[in-house]
Amino acid sequence: MDPTQFDREKLHEIIDNYRDRKWALIPLLQEIQEEFGFIPPESIEPVADALNMFASQVQGVITFYTGFSLKPKGRCVLRVCRGTACHVKGSRSILRLVKKELGLEEGETSPDYQFTLETVACLGACFLAPTMMVNRDYYGRLNPTKVTSVLGEYRKDKEDD
Ligand code: FES
Repeated sequence: MDPTQFDREKLHEIIDNYRDRKWALIPLLQEIQEEFGFIPPESIEPVADALNMFASQVQGVITFYTGFSLKPKGRCVLRVCRGTACHVKGSRSILRLVKKELGLEEGETSPDYQFTLETVACLGACFLAPTMMVNRDYYGRLNPTKVTSVLGEYRKDKEDD
């Protein structure tokens, strides 16, 4: 499904629930992102109106928090760790392999919105280095064979849909 074709009625319904609750900007943005997988840029104005704020203030909060994204992401978001512990254990070659397998550079999403590739400073699981996450699942002690099999599983999931 193309995530840019989101349910606008649903978006306005969510925003209406927060009307005049200026303090609730972050929970509102979180709810929008959870519902659609990203914050559609066209929601900035209505959010600002509902909370009696300037659009620039809403935009500022979205860009400040790395957890918020104005761009749609893939169904599977891969986060490859490039922290020190993972670097020492070969994360660079893991990242190179993931890029090659997916045909994506860091920060890119595949045209079918299946995969997004990101890198992070530390996934908080250094003892499992080198690590990556796919959505909420951790994969540690990675090697090329393991990476290929993990990616294979997520590709298979897609075929099963
Ligand atoms: S450095 Fe990779 S999980 Fe901490």
